[in-house]
Amino acid sequence: MNSKDAPVKVLNVTVEMAPLAKQGGLGDVLGALPKALRYKSVDARVLLPVFPGVMECVERNGYECSALPREIHVALDWRVYSARVYLAEVEGVPVYLLENGKLFDNPAIYPQSLSAASVMPFAFLSMAAFEIPAVTEWKPDIFHVHDWPVAILPIALRWHRHYRALRSDYDVVLTIHNMAHQGIVDPSMLTSWGITREAFSIDGVEYHSQSNILKGGAIASDAITTVSPRYSWDIQTPEGGFGLHGVFGGMKGKLSGILNGIDYDVWSPKNDALIPARYGADDMSGKAECRKRLVETCHWEDDGKPIAAFVGRLVQQKGIDILFTMLDRFMPDNCRAVAIGSGMPQYEDWARRFARMYPDCFWCCIGFDDELAHLAYAGSDIIVMPSLFEPCGLSQLIGMSYGSVPVVRGTGGLADTVIDFDGSHDGTGFVFSDYSADELLKAMRRAIDAFRDKDRWNALIKNTMSSDFSWNKSTLSYTELYNGLRSGELPS
Ligand code: GLC
Repeated sequence: MNSKDAPVKVLNVTVEMAPLAKQGGLGDVLGALPKALRYKSVDARVLLPVFPGVMECVERNGYECSALPREIHVALDWRVYSARVYLAEVEGVPVYLLENGKLFDNPAIYPQSLSAASVMPFAFLSMAAFEIPAVTEWKPDIFHVHDWPVAILPIALRWHRHYRALRSDYDVVLTIHNMAHQGIVDPSMLTSWGITREAFSIDGVEYHSQSNILKGGAIASDAITTVSPRYSWDIQTPEGGFGLHGVFGGMKGKLSGILNGIDYDVWSPKNDALIPARYGADDMSGKAECRKRLVETCHWEDDGKPIAAFVGRLVQQKGIDILFTMLDRFMPDNCRAVAIGSGMPQYEDWARRFARMYPDCFWCCIGFDDELAHLAYAGSDIIVMPSLFEPCGLSQLIGMSYGSVPVVRGTGGLADTVIDFDGSHDGTGFVFSDYSADELLKAMRRAIDAFRDKDRWNALIKNTMSSDFSWNKSTLSYTELYNGLRSGELPS
């Protein structure tokens, strides 16, 4: 085999990977994508810090894990920081775990505020990636970095006083999972990591006299992807670009959108061990069992009304304000609702208050409970996602797999994955456009009208359950992108 036919070697550098470290959808994607790519003969591996709880998770799951003989050292701010490296095998994926208990001590992964001390761990992780070949004897062709914390890697490869010498050895792909977080910091921070003066220009990290890590990282990367095709356009608009729409508008040649998938080993009602009864489109009796359990969990009697579920972070992005305004006007007579998730204290309080105000039709669990999330998908009729913006969204895809019909705002990945049922026989949900409680209410009304007509509803559920959002298609696109980069020609 000559080197051109050898599998392309990709090191994913990330701060989240399910099940080891997860705060949101990014963790799910990193738990599934490298695994799926390995089936496509890509030698995909992961570099992840040992945040609190990671080693316990490795042990609990019985993953093989051993320490490598050599440590990694990185100079930052005139000091040398070191980390021990472990190699774990997580569901068939080699994962390099970087252990430095002082730097990676935040169980929440992302800091509350950005300071020299709180961003330093991400700089260390990004630059440690360059040392991987020396301690492992495995040298990637491509670094695939995810979101702003590791967008420091392409910045360093282009502008770091030492690491820029490695520039021609690697290609870098940056995937943007959420444009709302960009890592805007004081320029002195980057200087203290060894980033040279050339970086601080309009064609680099400079951003209103500050340094914008996502911007600089994007400029310095060879290819940029967003997690859905529509979102690659959304970020070029003033509403979706969070100040960088002009920058991304100028990058058309290297920017593309590749839709996330879901892992049907985890998210299929046919083989889900976490739900009370299994079912499929051909026999839905198990779904009735799941509904029964969900209703019991909420301390309700079943009154036959549709149950809407929200599973996700209680943050502004997810449209929580219009969701609660709509429920307040709609709920007691038309439907019941459950919400599972945590997030901004004001939204958490709102959910608790609703549960007290409407004990017979609203139930919430503040926090994350995996088993309950599975039950909510399986036992509910509708999944509501009225997001203000949504790079991809996983909840609507999971809902469809469990025959829970999505009611979504047509933005980003929601627009790419849900087809409006009233406009099409092969529709899979209900889509509205304007961000308002009124529009959401109208879409909910349409969903509930369909629910009352059993034939229409069954046809709709058949459509949702037969949609295929496996990683298969996305991995083909990533493989094409990696191979295009390696051969020096990006796919058009
Ligand atoms: C972020 C986005 C979400 C996306 C996920 C995985 O959490 O908000 O839309 O599905 O990343 O890419």
